[in-house]
This record gives sequence, structure tokens and C-alpha cells, in this order.
Amino acid sequence: MTILIKSKKQIEGIKKSSRLAAATLDFISDHVQAGIDTEYLDDLIHKYIQENEGIPAPLGYRGFPKSSCISLNNVICHGIPSKDLVLKDGDILNIDVTTIVDGYFGDTSRMYTVGEVSDEAKKLIRVTRECLELGIQQVRPKKRFGNIGFVIGKHAKANGFSVVHQYCGHGVGVEFHEEPQVLHISTKKSGMRMKPGMIFTIEPMINVGKADASVDDTDGWTARTVDGELSAQFEHTVLVTDSGVEVLTAGSTV
Ligand code: MF3
Ligand code: CO
Ligand code: CO
Repeated sequence: MTILIKSKKQIEGIKKSSRLAAATLDFISDHVQAGIDTEYLDDLIHKYIQENEGIPAPLGYRGFPKSSCISLNNVICHGIPSKDLVLKDGDILNIDVTTIVDGYFGDTSRMYTVGEVSDEAKKLIRVTRECLELGIQQVRPKKRFGNIGFVIGKHAKANGFSVVHQYCGHGVGVEFHEEPQVLHISTKKSGMRMKPGMIFTIEPMINVGKADASVDDTDGWTARTVDGELSAQFEHTVLVTDSGVEVLTAGSTV
């Protein structure tokens, strides 16, 4: 198993792509409103990325039909934007954007809310954001990947939530999905050691109820909670630096 150590040139390219992915999530924020359908949001995302000299990586990736993943309420990830999915007050959603700029990939997602959402939804979103932040704090040279999933699992459980185990973070930059798989639930000090120049995502999916995901037969993509309870996710692309970590997809609003 080989984890790429990115060159200076590759790092610069991945930084530029990651900045565009983050800017896209900043841009879409004002458009997330009751009455808007998720295909409309996807159209805006598609146009924004193209206007900024990028390519939306999901479009056509293993047959994925749209330019972003938009996952509503009980959808864990890989939701397909659709005219039939109209936002309403109280909804929570994840928008996941991956850009290609000059051949380099940046991958990030965050949660949005529509109108007033439940206290449970607010807590889920807060804890999921904290899980990502705690995971990022475990990134530095010589540390093991397993520590990331250890702190995420601990924090989710302490708050009564569960961690989705079927989907992982991943190396990213030269391709959409590279090695390693970054587990969001794992044991302390397990896994490979991090080295400067590695770039990967951390993207915990946290559920209110059961941890399991089930993929819709109808489209082969949409991953839902098995019990219909809410799920949340945040994702950043991070670089292992000589002294620690740099978040490449930090936006202006998150
Ligand atoms: N962006 C997702 C990730 O974080 C992958 C989406 S694959 C797609 O890894 F085909 F659904 F776009
Ligand atoms: Co990802
Ligand atoms: Co993503």
C-alpha cells in the first residue's frame, strides 16, 4: 500500500483546487432556502465551478449523474441532486463538492440548515463538526492514522451518537480517491504513520441512531440511515506539514 508524498508543485495545485471547492461551499450558502430543489443548487454549483476554471469531479465519476452530492436529513452521503427534493423548514443537508483544477483534486463538505431546525439536529451538527476538528488535531508527522478514528469515535459516543463505518476518508489530490482509507472509527495508535506531504480527507458521518448505512436499490448511490434517523457530515482536505497540519479547504464561513 503506497500513500503518495506530494511534490511542491502538486501541493500548490491541490491547494488551488481545494480553495475553489471551499469557495463553492461559501458561495452556495445563501441559496440554501425553503422552496429550492437540490437540482437547482447543483446547477449553481456546476456553473460556479466552471466559471472559475474548474471541473466538478463527481459528474460522470463511476456513473454519478450530477456535479455535487446533496444529502438531506436521513441521507448519510452520496445524495443525488433532484428536482423532486425540495427544501423545507427544519431540513438539514450536507453539500459535498470536489473540484478538479489543472488536474488536481480538492474535496470538502459541510452542513446547512433550512429555517429553524430541531435541538437534536443542532446538537448533531455541532458534534459532527467537533468530530472533524478533533480528527484534524491528530494530524502531524509520525502520528498514526488510527488516532483520527479513535478520537472521533470517542466524541461521537460520548454524545450518544454513532459513527458510520461503511465510508471512509481517503488520500486525495492527484486522483479523487487515493490510498489510504482514513477510518472514522478505529483503535488508538493503529494504522500507518503520517509523513509530511501526505494529503487526505477526514469526513466523519455521524448518526443519531444506528451506525449502519443502506444504499437505495433505485439509484445505487443514495446512502441512508437504516432507522430513518438524522445523519450529518463535515469534510476537509488536509496536508501533513513538517510541523503539523494545514487545512486546505478552510472556507471563509466555516
Ligand atoms: N465527495 C465524496 C467523497 O468525499 C465522493 C463522492 S463520489 C460521487 O469522497 F460520485 F458520489 F460523487
Ligand atoms: Co472525500
Ligand atoms: Co467529498
